[in-house]
Amino acid sequence: MEKKINRECFVQDIGNFEVINSIHKFYKDKNLIDVCAAPGGKSILLQSLGFNVLAIDKSQNQINKFEENLNRLNIKINIQKLDFLKKKFTDKFNSILLDAPCSALGTFRRNPDVTVKIDPSQIKKHQKTQIQMLEKSLKMLNNGGFLVYIVCSFHPFETIDVIDKIIQKHKNVKIHSIETDKMIKRQNGYFINPLSFKDIGGSDIFFVSVLEKI
Ligand SMILES: C[S@@+](CC[C@H](N)C(=O)[O-])C[C@H]1O[C@@H](n2cnc3c(N)ncnc32)[C@H](O)[C@@H]1O
Repeated sequence: MEKKINRECFVQDIGNFEVINSIHKFYKDKNLIDVCAAPGGKSILLQSLGFNVLAIDKSQNQINKFEENLNRLNIKINIQKLDFLKKKFTDKFNSILLDAPCSALGTFRRNPDVTVKIDPSQIKKHQKTQIQMLEKSLKMLNNGGFLVYIVCSFHPFETIDVIDKIIQKHKNVKIHSIETDKMIKRQNGYFINPLSFKDIGGSDIFFVSVLEKI
């Protein structure tokens, strides 16, 4: 039994599952590029929902964990070690997932240290990277394509403000509403409501926004 669980299960926070469960229907094209993919939680969920995922990450350490997960689960995903911000992409895509690097404040339930170690200058730096990554993703997106932005943070600088800056600058972006009773709606995005999962001990807090290039 222990061996079977080890081979067939990937234990993840319920919030991770909820985010993917609520956004995957927006993607019309099942060929998807996950541009910050490792250690693979969301890529693996999407692949199991029938997507053909191209996974990118710049960290070899994180990719090693991703590969361990894939080997254990006997799943194949094309992983490429690349710096998303530096790589020149010639192809365009209809489906992009950007689970951007962030402060991870939304994981405070499991990692209480994040709340005391938080450094405001670091959050500003994250915001800069998040905006650069969103702008690069938008460039790579076909008209009518969907880009989903996710961070495991509730800090306004990394969530609402980021999307606000993007839609101020890029008038060809439409934000879509998500059908969910497990998230709290704010302008331009949604936060997972950990109280939705209070019977199982709560969840991490993710922010998610669904962008269409029009
Ligand atoms: C929030 S984690 C992704 C978690 C993953 N999506 C999951 O569900 O398991 C952010 C990832 O972005 C990667 N990353 C940061 N900067 C990057 C860059 N410039 N290019 C590609 N990957 C990057 C980090 O190595 C890290 O693995």
